[in-house]
Amino acid sequence: MAKVSSEYVCQQCGFRSSTFLGKCPECGTWNSLVEQVNTMPKLNNKNQISKTGEVVYTKDFEQKQKVDRLSSRLSEFDRVLGGGIVPGSVVLIAGDPGIGKSTLLSQLAINVNTLQLTVNSDQLSVNNSVLYVAGEESAQQIKLRVERISKKANLAILNETDVDIVVNSIDKLRPTLVIVDSIQTMETEDLTAAAGSVSQVRESTHRLQRIAKLIHTPIFIVGHVTKEGTVAGPRTLEHLVDVVLNLEGESSNNFRILRAAKNRFGPTDEVGIFEMEESGMKEVINPSQIFLDGKVNAPGSAVTVILTGLRPMLLEIQALVTKSYAPLPRRIGTGIDNNRLTLLVAVLQKRLGLPLFDQDVFVNVTGGIKINEPAADLAICMSIVSSLKDQLINKNIAFVGEVGLLGELRVVRGLEKRIVEAKKLGFTKVISPTFAKSLAEAVKLVLEKS
Ligand code: TYD
Ligand code: MG
Repeated sequence: MAKVSSEYVCQQCGFRSSTFLGKCPECGTWNSLVEQVNTMPKLNNKNQISKTGEVVYTKDFEQKQKVDRLSSRLSEFDRVLGGGIVPGSVVLIAGDPGIGKSTLLSQLAINVNTLQLTVNSDQLSVNNSVLYVAGEESAQQIKLRVERISKKANLAILNETDVDIVVNSIDKLRPTLVIVDSIQTMETEDLTAAAGSVSQVRESTHRLQRIAKLIHTPIFIVGHVTKEGTVAGPRTLEHLVDVVLNLEGESSNNFRILRAAKNRFGPTDEVGIFEMEESGMKEVINPSQIFLDGKVNAPGSAVTVILTGLRPMLLEIQALVTKSYAPLPRRIGTGIDNNRLTLLVAVLQKRLGLPLFDQDVFVNVTGGIKINEPAADLAICMSIVSSLKDQLINKNIAFVGEVGLLGELRVVRGLEKRIVEAKKLGFTKVISPTFAKSLAEAVKLVLEKS
């Protein structure tokens, strides 16, 4: 095979060079040259020019539209994907090292494998199973992990880091599902850069994407998050794949949250919740119950109902307000945006006249969940007021509502659904904009009655 030549291309202006340069001579940007496989169009190729592409009509696709999604037999996983695995899709699973990406994907592999076994028990072959491409760990290490999850499982493992060999093997074996763990270990000989570099990671993903589309095999790719919090460089991979899933969690607890950052085949606001256990990840089917477990009723605690996708979830918000000795009092939120917290504290100061100017305010969302909707505003404010005044909030009350800059309460989407979930878990009253028009009114209702 003729060696494909590579070149260095400026990611800012497209300048091409045969050698590496620290600074682009064309646009002057530093560190913008990345090695790429030479893909200059062959303009003198007559064949290429006389060819025409095949046009298809959207109407012809109507019947075919209903793709058969493959179930992972983990309902939380299927939910995040938008109802199962789409054939030919490329899914990137990103997350910090040690968070459980390999564990979750091993489980997926085992589930799809046994699915095939039961469906097709008399025709058992490699064609009907999952191929686990291991670039990071040895087959022995993967065997140990798989055994922790299931004693009976039998996975096909390919210990390989050359992406071209991987692509060839996929083409030959035609597995139902492929897992590549991880993309940072894949490399092609066509590029001189080291494995894990932007150019290698991008080219490898590109080649995997091509084979996935060609033979309609779904491929899951593991990607480690870099120190900057992105997957292998500045969002290099995100636009190359169909779905980007982030696996998040905190070291302090065993909950792991799977969230879609991008999904070509489904919504991006659904989350899947798992708990890391001795034998793999267990699905958390009733998160509200689990997150409220162990809640003690003390001043500074308030409960809210958030809506992730279509699912309502009850969460406890805890606040601690203490005298500050710093020149600038601190406002620190875990699980909520710090800017939002600063804003809410300012509203409490101005609209309720609360003396928070010399107080440190810490707010924490239990369970390691990150809240990114304003519906939790009211509960955050109530927990702060409760901690400042050292007064208990009745344990049967939950809060839902966005707080405006004028101290008014604003309606949030899916209120009815949230109320139903709260009632289901024994909350008798949900303070919402239909109950109280302003923050001041809500505080009066809950904390100043006694
Ligand atoms: P791993 O999937 O290897 O993380 P990643 O691929 O994201 O780097 O899992 C890391 C941790 O999970 C490791 O500390 C061991 C733990 N673990 C369990 O608690 N239970 C299990 O069943 C397995 C397989 C791992
Ligand atoms: Mg791993």
